[in-house]
Amino acid sequence: MNQFARYPSLEGRHVFISGGASGIGATMVEHFCEQQARVSFIDIDDVSGEALAARLTGQGGEVHYRHCDVTDIQQLRAVIEAAADEWGPIGALVNNAARDTRVPLKELDVETWDDLQATNLRHVVFACQAVFAGMQAAGGGSIINFSSPSFLRRSRDISAYSSAKAATIGLTRTLSRDMGDAGIRVNTVLPGWIITERQKALWWNPELEKQVLENQSLHQRVQPEDVARMVLFLAADDSRMMTAQTYIVDGGLV
Ligand SMILES: NC(=O)c1ccc[n+]([C@@H]2O[C@H](COP(=O)([O-])OP(=O)(O)OC[C@H]3O[C@@H](n4cnc5c(N)ncnc54)[C@H](O)[C@@H]3O)[C@@H](O)[C@H]2O)c1
Repeated sequence: MNQFARYPSLEGRHVFISGGASGIGATMVEHFCEQQARVSFIDIDDVSGEALAARLTGQGGEVHYRHCDVTDIQQLRAVIEAAADEWGPIGALVNNAARDTRVPLKELDVETWDDLQATNLRHVVFACQAVFAGMQAAGGGSIINFSSPSFLRRSRDISAYSSAKAATIGLTRTLSRDMGDAGIRVNTVLPGWIITERQKALWWNPELEKQVLENQSLHQRVQPEDVARMVLFLAADDSRMMTAQTYIVDGGLV
């Protein structure tokens, strides 16, 4: 039996998730389907995106995968419009797509910096802009932006990503004011260290994990599901008066 919350306000709600083909994004796609939301998600990994959509559709979910590279703002605007044409205004937007590329300071060049701002920050504001009119007409909505504790922990060699993720918090707070008159809430979520396939392939090793778990107040792995449940709450009406805030799900690491 599932011991976790069910949110009636999410039933039938149109939720749009970027970077939903793998990692935390895929877990969120699955969790919103379980809540009987209508889930539109985008990614550049078509093989994983289509497989996930097919599996969840087979289980009775209402879910639609579309290819979109979030660094292409024209394409992003077009897929958001296509999603709204299919299932009506987006009620919850989750800006999750990102790439945590590490570059030592002495190797950082202008192209890499700009590329990482485009992958980790620029799309967030334009996705918010693209859903604004629909949410306003519907009387409100909820936006969840993804940041990272990497800048709080002063992680090495990750200045471009960390700067984008720090800026996401400032952007969220500013947009909460710009969009609040329309009843739109905007919040940020910071996951702790979640060992997704990418983390496992690139950075994970047993010593590092031991160190991280020792430094957490709760000495267990933080799972993608732990983050997804926070996002469900923020997308649901249960959090109706919560906006401009930052929520850290890291087992007490920072
Ligand atoms: N995993 C962690 O430990 C951790 C820690 C802190 C913050 N975060 C944040 O959580 C969010 C999810 O992270 P994750 O670990 O699941 O990442 P991930 O790398 O496992 O998955 C990211 C997804 O985004 C997609 N993506 C990447 N670039 C894209 C682009 N240009 N256009 C469209 N899709 C693109 C990828 O294909 C992938 O499916 C990110 O915003 C990340 O910064 C993760």
